[in-house]
Amino acid sequence: MSAFASPFDARPGQHPPVPLLDEAKRPVIQSGRPLSPEASCAGCHDTEFITTNTFHKDMNCFACHVAKPDAKAYREAFANGQKERAADALLGKTGIVTWDGERSRWNASQMDAQGRANPEVVKITAPRLENCGICHGVTHRGSEPVRLDTDSPRDATDLKGQIFSAQRLSDSAINLAGKEHLSRPWDIHAERLMECRHCHHAANNPIFNDKVRSLGGSPDAPMHLKFDARRVDFMDYLARPDHNLARGRPTHGTSENGPRGTMRRCEDCHDGERSHPWLPFEKSHFAALSCESCHVPKMFAPAVESVDETILDAQGKPVTFSRGIEGGDARAKQLASLLVTGYEPVWLSRVTAKGQGKLLPHNLVTRFQWVFKDEAGEERELPRETLVSALFASSGVYRDEVLAALDRDADKSLSRGELLLDTQERVEVVAKLLTQRGVKEPRLSASTLPVSLHHNVASGSLAIKECEDCHAPHSRVERPMQVVAKGPYLREAPQWARHAPLRGVGKMVPNGVGGWVFVPETAEASLYIPGHDRHWWLDALGACLILGTMGGVGGHATLRILGARKRRQGKGGER
Ligand code: HEC
Ligand code: HEC
Ligand code: HEC
Ligand code: HEC
Ligand code: HEC
Ligand code: HEC
Ligand code: HEC
Repeated sequence: MSAFASPFDARPGQHPPVPLLDEAKRPVIQSGRPLSPEASCAGCHDTEFITTNTFHKDMNCFACHVAKPDAKAYREAFANGQKERAADALLGKTGIVTWDGERSRWNASQMDAQGRANPEVVKITAPRLENCGICHGVTHRGSEPVRLDTDSPRDATDLKGQIFSAQRLSDSAINLAGKEHLSRPWDIHAERLMECRHCHHAANNPIFNDKVRSLGGSPDAPMHLKFDARRVDFMDYLARPDHNLARGRPTHGTSENGPRGTMRRCEDCHDGERSHPWLPFEKSHFAALSCESCHVPKMFAPAVESVDETILDAQGKPVTFSRGIEGGDARAKQLASLLVTGYEPVWLSRVTAKGQGKLLPHNLVTRFQWVFKDEAGEERELPRETLVSALFASSGVYRDEVLAALDRDADKSLSRGELLLDTQERVEVVAKLLTQRGVKEPRLSASTLPVSLHHNVASGSLAIKECEDCHAPHSRVERPMQVVAKGPYLREAPQWARHAPLRGVGKMVPNGVGGWVFVPETAEASLYIPGHDRHWWLDALGACLILGTMGGVGGHATLRILGARKRRQGKGGER
C-alpha cells in the first residue's frame, strides 16, 4: 500500500498515470480485451496526428515509450499470429500484466478504479535505446556482459554485425578473437551517453530545430535569418510530435514513406576539417570518403552473408551463412563457444543528395531463390509453400528424389553442408519437381543487397590513418569481399538488389570453387586514388612515403604541387 498510496497525483517531471484501455476505450482490466496503445494515449496526445506523420508502419506507442519493454514476448506474439495481444505481451516485464500466450492477467493492485496504471510500474519515457532495440538489433546498457543469444530479436545485428553499447568489447560474453586486447567500446556515441533519439529525433522537436529552414521547422523562414527564435511551443510539440524521425539515405533503406535526408550527419555535428590536421588535401579526402569509411573500419559481431532459399532444411527454413564467425552459423546452439572474428566492410560509392559519389563501408547480403514465369509471362519469386510441397513428401520428410540427389554421405538425412544445389544436375532435380507441380520455367536467381554501416563508430585512435591503407596496391578502397564461399549453381552472376543508390561499383567474380567474390573498382566509381591506380606520379608519391616525409612540411608541399599538377591535367574533376 505504502509506495502506492497516491501515485496518481502527478509529481513534477513524472509522466501522469496512463489508463490502460481497449479499442473501445474501456479499461482492459474490466473488459479483458487486448490493450490498445492508441486508445490509451489518445486522451492527452494527438494520436491521429502521430500515426499519420510517421514512416514506421508499426506504431505501438508503448514499444518506443515504455521503460522495460519485453522485446521477446512482443515479437513472439507477432510470430504466433497473436498480433492483437502484442501490446499486452510487451508490458510483461513491468509487472502490470502476465501474458501466458493465451490470456492476460492484469495486476489489480497496480491500477486504480479508472484502470490507470501506477506510473512507477508502467513508466512512460522519451524513447531509450532498449525501445529501438526491439527491432533494430542488439542494444545494451549497464554492466551485464553483452551477449548474442540464439533466440533474442537481433535482425539489424544480423544484417550488419551492429551492437549499440557503451561496453568495452573485452567485457562482453562473446568469444571474440583477440578479446583481451579489445579495450574499445562497441560504439563511441553510446559510450558518450548518446541515445538513438539524439540523432533520430522527432522532426519538429524544438530542442533540435535550430536550423529552422533546413530541418523542416519553417520552410517559409526568410533567407537572411541565421537564427529563428520562433519555435514550436513545447506543449504543442508534446501534443503533436512529428514522428517522421530524422533520418538519412542508407543504401538499404526501403520505406519511402516520409521525407529522407532530414538528419544531421557526422559532418553536421563534427567539424571534420578541424579534427584532422594530419590529413593533407582535406577537401579531396572528405569529398571522396565518408566519415564512416575511416571510423567504422571493422564490425566485431557476425553478420549475414547469404540466405539460400533454393533449398530448405527439415524445418522448412532457408540455409543462412554469416561472415565473421567460425562455422558461419550465427544462430548455432553452441554460439557462446564459437570464435567470433568480425569482418572488415567493403567500400562502395554511395550517391549523395547532390548526385556525387562517396565511399561508404558496407556489408553484402546475398539471397538465392527460385523464380518462375506467371500467366502473363512475368518473372516472380516462388512462394515458400510451393517449394515446401516440391521438396517434402510429408512434414520434415524429404522426397526420395531430393535425398538421392543431395544425401552425399547416404545417411538418409541432409546435414547443413549437404543442403546445397551446387551442380546443374541437382538444380534440375528440384526444377523437375517444381515443373511437375505446374511451376513454369523455374530458375535460380541471386541478388545482393548492399547494407551501409553508420553505427559502431570507433574513436580517432582506432580509425584508419595510414596513407598506405588506401594509397598502395592492396588498397582498402578496392579490397574484395566474399559474397558466398560456396553457393548454388548459377548461370549468371548475382545482381544488385533493387535500385541501390550506388555508382558503378565493380564486379562479381567466381571464386573457382562454386562461390563468388565482389571486387570493387575505383575507376568505375570515377575515383582516382593516387598510389593505387596507375598514374604517372604514383612513383613520386611512393617515394615520398618511403622517405617518410609525409608528416613534415616538405612532404605536404610536394603533395600540393603534385596535386596541383594533377588537377591541371584535368584529372581532378569537380565534386
Ligand atoms: C493523462 C494525460 C496523458 C496520457 C493519457 C498520456 N500522456 Fe504522455 N504526457 C502527458 C503530459 C502532461 C506530459 C508532460 C509531462 C511531463 O513529463 O512533464 C506527457 C509527456 C509525454 C512524453 C515525454 C516524456 C519525456 O520524459 O520526455 C512522452 C514520450 C509521452 N507523454 C508519451 C505518452 C504515451 C506513449 C502515452 C500512452 C501510452 C501517453 N503519453 C499518455 C499526458 C499524458
Ligand atoms: C518507432 C518508435 C516510436 C513509436 C512507435 C512512437 N514514438 Fe513517440 N517518439 C519517438 C521518438 C524517436 C520521439 C522523438 C524524441 C526526441 O525528439 O527526442 C518521439 C516523441 C514523442 C513525444 C514527444 C516527447 C518526446 O519525448 O520528445 C510524444 C508525446 C510521443 N512521442 C508520443 C507517442 C505516442 C502517443 C505514440 C503512439 C501513437 C508514439 N509516440 C509512438 C518514437 C516513437
Ligand atoms: C551519433 C548519431 C547516431 C546515433 C546515436 C544513432 N544513429 Fe542511427 N544513424 C546515424 C547516421 C549518421 C546514419 C546514416 C544516415 C545516412 O547518411 O544515411 C544512421 C542511420 C540509421 C538507420 C538507417 C541505416 C541502418 O543502419 O539501418 C537506422 C535504422 C538507424 N540509424 C537507427 C538507429 C538506432 C536504432 C539507434 C540507437 C540504437 C541509432 N540509430 C543511433 C546516426 C546515429
Ligand atoms: C516495432 C519495431 C520497431 C521499433 C520499436 C523501432 N523501429 Fe525503426 N524501423 C522499423 C522498421 C520495420 C523500419 C523500416 C520501415 C518500416 O517498414 O516501418 C524502421 C525504420 C527506421 C529508420 C529508417 C531507416 C531507413 O530506411 O532510413 C530509422 C531511422 C529508425 N527506424 C529509427 C528508429 C528509432 C530511433 C527507434 C526507437 C525510438 C525505432 N526505429 C524503433 C522497426 C522498428
Ligand atoms: C547529432 C550529433 C552527432 C552526429 C550525427 C555524430 N556525432 Fe560523433 N559525437 C557526437 C558527440 C556529442 C560526441 C561526444 C563528444 C564528447 O565526448 O564531448 C561524439 C563523439 C564522436 C567521436 C569521438 C571523439 C573523441 O572525443 O574522441 C568520434 C570519432 C565521432 N563522434 C565520429 C562520428 C562519426 C564518424 C559520425 C557519423 C557516422 C558521427 N560522429 C555522428 C555527436 C554526433
Ligand atoms: C582518412 C580517414 C578519416 C576520415 C575520412 C575521417 N576521419 Fe576522423 N579521424 C581519423 C583518425 C585517424 C583520427 C585520429 C587522429 C589522431 O588523433 O591521431 C580521427 C579523429 C577524429 C575525431 C576526434 C578528434 C579529436 O579531436 O579527438 C573526430 C571527432 C573525427 N575524427 C570525426 C570525423 C568526421 C566527422 C569525419 C567526416 C567528416 C571524419 N572524422 C573523417 C581518420 C579519419
Ligand atoms: C581511407 C583511405 C585514405 C587514406 C587513409 C588516405 N587517403 Fe589520400 N586519398 C584517398 C582518396 C579516396 C582520395 C581521392 C581520390 C579522388 O578523389 O579521385 C585521396 C586523394 C589523395 C591525394 C590527391 C589529392 C588531390 O586533390 O588530388 C593525395 C595527394 C593523397 N590522397 C595523399 C594522402 C596522404 C599523404 C595520406 C596519409 C596522410 C592519405 N592520402 C591518406 C584515400 C585515402
